[in-house]
Amino acid sequence: MYKPEICVVGLGYVGLPLAIELSRYFNVIGFDINKNRIKSLLDGKDPTGEVSDKLLSETKTVFSTDPDVIRKGNFIIIAVPTPIDKNKRPDLTPLLKASETVGSNLSDGSIVVYESTVYPGVTEDECVPVLEKYSKKKWKENFNIGYSPERINPGDKVHTFSTIKKIVSGDTDDTLEKIATVYGTAVKAGIHKASSIKVAEAAKVIENTQRDINIALMNELRIIFDKLGISTREVLEAASTKWNFLPFEPGLVGGHCIGVDPYYLAYKAEEIGHHPQIIMAGRRINDAMGRYFARELIKKMIHKKLNVMEGKVLVLGITFKENVPDIRNSKVIDIIQELESFGVIADVWDPVANPEDVQNEYGIKLIETPEDNFYEAIIITVKHNFFISKGIDYYNKYLVKNGIIFDVKEVSNKC
Ligand SMILES: NC(=O)c1ccc[n+]([C@@H]2O[C@H](COP(=O)([O-])OP(=O)(O)OC[C@H]3O[C@@H](n4cnc5c(N)ncnc54)[C@H](O)[C@@H]3O)[C@@H](O)[C@H]2O)c1
Repeated sequence: MYKPEICVVGLGYVGLPLAIELSRYFNVIGFDINKNRIKSLLDGKDPTGEVSDKLLSETKTVFSTDPDVIRKGNFIIIAVPTPIDKNKRPDLTPLLKASETVGSNLSDGSIVVYESTVYPGVTEDECVPVLEKYSKKKWKENFNIGYSPERINPGDKVHTFSTIKKIVSGDTDDTLEKIATVYGTAVKAGIHKASSIKVAEAAKVIENTQRDINIALMNELRIIFDKLGISTREVLEAASTKWNFLPFEPGLVGGHCIGVDPYYLAYKAEEIGHHPQIIMAGRRINDAMGRYFARELIKKMIHKKLNVMEGKVLVLGITFKENVPDIRNSKVIDIIQELESFGVIADVWDPVANPEDVQNEYGIKLIETPEDNFYEAIIITVKHNFFISKGIDYYNKYLVKNGIIFDVKEVSNKC
């Protein structure tokens, strides 16, 4: 059986669990440019919370910031970020930088597999030329490539690397078989062999685009039902009794996947002369929801004769989704900025987020414990179990007389 030496480049939410799982079956080296991250992994702590201390202490994975270690591998997996820039265009810098490093340290006969989410064509048209340039080797003669998108869902302990079916693709039949063998060894849910690298790239990017558009529809419905004075949650509960009603919910679409990937697809579409309409409508609606929720809260505060100017609002949650410490591209910031533009003073409480990360990324100092009888309003922005488990009535003690609780996620019935 094909049993390569594996090197995972980029040990974040995707790369670390992947390296740990593959190390049950193969020799695995984990490389990352972030010294703090490697130090923390060597100290036995995963800052993302995806890998337990126990698993980390048991793993045989070798962690390093030394690019030389890449040479020891002949199956290199690249799992670095693929963000957008301030103009919402794909920023391939980390991917191309990682390709430079891998190219500079590429052993003959290696297979390089990309896992980062991209638009169709990036692996072959953007990354391969960099690999060739920095390795001074020829694609398909001295090295091969593949693409296998990641589908993990941070914080989700049920759908994990080994329990989610994995799409694999390769530049030749032989590469495809080898890639399928490696992933097939560790992924219990099975492998789907895509017919080409571009098909695999496109499949990943549309998975999140489809979610984005469905959530946008729910957000549009939320705006309509708010105006009609009916509860979107109750409408969805009723509608979902039909067998084929899709269970999407309105809310903020942040993070580095659903709110980002559609821009990758849209960029490629524009490049080939098609103006994507539904995709961009979804993006517009979802990107505007933070502002919408903030304004709805302000309206409610005014109707209740609560102070808006210098009024205190407690924001419950700043991470981009519930029960994970990830704050990248959190849309809660849109809510905070909009509230502040009305003169509101926002205190943010989030025991799941790392206070230092929040300070560095957004310049916000998280509060440790809210004050009693202090806030004009509380806005529930993230459904952390920590918040929900207390029950909605618990939060009344933080409110001034007549103060209000505004529930972005409409979770009150679960509180
Ligand atoms: N997080 C998810 O839920 C998820 C799910 C599916 C797909 N993806 C995709 O997977 C990719 C990685 O996402 P992530 O969430 O793991 O990102 P991340 O930011 O958590 O981790 C990326 C890691 O790569 C490292 N890195 C950056 N540049 C590097 C370089 N040149 N060389 C070596 N290491 C480098 C960073 O230091 C970091 O530790 C992205 O394309 C993302 O869209 C993410």
